[in-house]
Amino acid sequence: MLRFLAFLATVIAFITCPAALAQTARARATAGTDLDARFAQAQADPELAQQLLATGRKVAAVCANCHGVGGNSSKPSVPNLAGQNAAYLLEQVRQFADGRRRDMWMEGMIRALEADEKIGMVLFYSAQTVAPQPAKDAALAAQGKDYFSKICFRCHGDNGRGNAQIARIAGQQPDYLKKTLTLYRDGKSPRADSLMVPNTRQMSDADIAAVVAYVSGMR
Ligand code: HEC
Ligand code: HEC
Repeated sequence: MLRFLAFLATVIAFITCPAALAQTARARATAGTDLDARFAQAQADPELAQQLLATGRKVAAVCANCHGVGGNSSKPSVPNLAGQNAAYLLEQVRQFADGRRRDMWMEGMIRALEADEKIGMVLFYSAQTVAPQPAKDAALAAQGKDYFSKICFRCHGDNGRGNAQIARIAGQQPDYLKKTLTLYRDGKSPRADSLMVPNTRQMSDADIAAVVAYVSGMR
């Protein structure tokens, strides 16, 4: 009976509100498997983790076109995934799937993945080694280091490697860093409620250029 009532409410919502249709379709796409529970299971079971990692390696072959083989991107505007924190990656996967983080390419691709493929991909990329890009302008990178040591280190750590919730930024692609920081600063990032928005508001274009020169070369 309760189920029927819920169904009825959904039908009414569809008739009165077309947006509800898209929302429910999105919810359905991610329902079923609890990603966190499956991730915790993999972390507690090395054999399962190895199996999922092998699945992830296959998934990564599809992503290599943009993110590079092993997650070191060859396209400046596409982020490296190699060495990225697993829990952070999983959270981005969830946000692309439910529409909180928007990207023309990523949304559809992530929604097409099964839960085990998502977890496997996350395990695979976090186990790869990122290849930093040594700064071309040492003076600029030194300025960036000063800036980093005043503000960014508080959350991303002295080494820029973040933690479970916070992205690793050390060794990230310079163009992607620049684009992402500028969007946060201008209040145009799809990740609108991010801690990054208040922490970039005061940055000038020159600050961004300096920080990018430093961070992209960090190991
Ligand atoms: C057509 C190019 C393209 C392909 C193919 C692609 N991606 Fe992406 N991906 C991007 C771009 C561009 C971004 C950055 C989006 C943004 O600016 O927010 C991104 C971002 C991501 C992020 C967020 C990274 C971060 O640092 O926050 C993850 C995770 C990701 N992609 C996973 C995947 C996976 C898994 C696949 C394969 C199933 C894949 N991508 C295939 C272009 C691509
Ligand atoms: C108060 C904590 C905090 C501070 C300070 C902070 N960040 Fe972040 N940053 C985060 C969190 C949390 C994320 C994860 C993504 C999100 O929430 O948007 C993030 C994400 C990022 C990303 C996106 C990573 C990706 O792969 O897409 C970049 C780039 C970044 N931070 C750079 C910086 C820089 C440079 C500074 C210093 C100017 C800085 N952050 C200061 C918390 C912080």
